Amino acid sequence: MAHESTYKPSSAFEKWLDTRLPILRLAHDSFVDFPTPKNLNYWWTFGGILTFCLIVQIISGVVLAMHYTPHVDFAFASVEHIMRDVNYGWLIRYIHANGASMFFIAVYIHMFRGLFYGSYKNPREVLWILGVLIYVLMMATAFLGYVLPWGQMSFWGATVITSLFGSIPLVGDAIVSWLWGGFAIDNQTLNRFFSLHYLIPFLLFGVVILHIWALHVPGNNNPKGVDVKGPQDTLPFHPYYTVKDAFALILFVIFFAMFVFYAPNMLGHPDNYIPANFLVTPEHIVPEWYFLPFYAMLRAVTFDILFIPAKLGGVILMFGAILTLLVLPWLDTSRVRSGRYRPWFKLFFFLFVVVCIALGWAGSQPAEDGSLQMYIAQLGSVYYMAFFWVIIPLLGVLETPVNVPDSISKPVLQNA
Ligand code: HEM
Repeated sequence: MAHESTYKPSSAFEKWLDTRLPILRLAHDSFVDFPTPKNLNYWWTFGGILTFCLIVQIISGVVLAMHYTPHVDFAFASVEHIMRDVNYGWLIRYIHANGASMFFIAVYIHMFRGLFYGSYKNPREVLWILGVLIYVLMMATAFLGYVLPWGQMSFWGATVITSLFGSIPLVGDAIVSWLWGGFAIDNQTLNRFFSLHYLIPFLLFGVVILHIWALHVPGNNNPKGVDVKGPQDTLPFHPYYTVKDAFALILFVIFFAMFVFYAPNMLGHPDNYIPANFLVTPEHIVPEWYFLPFYAMLRAVTFDILFIPAKLGGVILMFGAILTLLVLPWLDTSRVRSGRYRPWFKLFFFLFVVVCIALGWAGSQPAEDGSLQMYIAQLGSVYYMAFFWVIIPLLGVLETPVNVPDSISKPVLQNA
């Protein structure tokens, strides 16, 4: 939110710097004195937690890269070398591997929060779109990173996902060879995956800066979803939200540490401790948990639709599910932001969360025609798409919101 700067340089050096590069002023106005709605709840602490996750992944990843060898003959062994020989290598690797899962837990909470409280709506559309871009970059990074240990799931996961592009008519096969860097997944594939896995997090960092910039122009949304009406509705970011964010971060780090120290392999797949072998296909190829709902959609299309073969249909559905998020701000016709005051939206939203979890379960099971998981994958995909393209546009017109307050502080002060 544009507000007058209250920064006062406290030393001769700060004064000197302020007239040359007012970076301390920017930091002060953005993270110390930034007018923040009074009523933010704990769901608003995940943006800070995500920033922490990104920094942890970059630092641990750079250290891992010092000891890792991106070559098909040495990659698996170099990871074992990190685990056994490098000082605290086991800790750094477990932080990085579990850190990816923590990052996705936090991002899913952050996205569902935005969805429920209508944070993607006018005037925060660009903020939301940058968020979707971040999410896509996160998925790309996680996929590329999982290939690097060159275990069975690394190799076969890469095979399944890169082969998807082969279903694109005419140019599919050419794209696949281009991605692989040859006619099979081999050393050149591993090399480019390593290079890109190292590069993309820095791009992510840049997009996160834009994301926070786009947040600071309109300012935060809040659980009531009504606009800030004046200084009575806000508090300075520091110390109120720095302390709240720090408290939430401590709890998050304890949760994270429980995995790192007590169940470091719980979220991984045991087959990735078997070196990659292109002659042996694992019985059941599964991606990491955070991709499972999309994996279910990919396999949900078991029949050709007109001239679209089933495989291509699955690919279109999966990418369509992600791209749909980009147009969400224009699909929602409701003038009320927060789900709190929308009884029907609330119901459909909670069903949407349940459907996403059910899709995740379906994605973790073997794809057998006529099985329960296939029906769940198909019905779940239909609900996912209908939620965005039918339910959300219609609800804005048909639903009557209840008891929307006119400001953040008025209902509270009235009772005082
Ligand atoms: C690396 C990943 C990300 C980082 C570091 C990040 C960072 C942040 C921060 C610091 C905030 C302000 C605090 C808060 O509201 O929690 C925020 C707000 C927001 N983010 Fe993100 N974000 C990330 C990913 C995403 C994604 C994937 C989306 C959506 C697809 C998203 C959508 C939003 C929205 C809509 C807001 C405004 C919330 C509001 O004020 O109600 N972000 N983000």
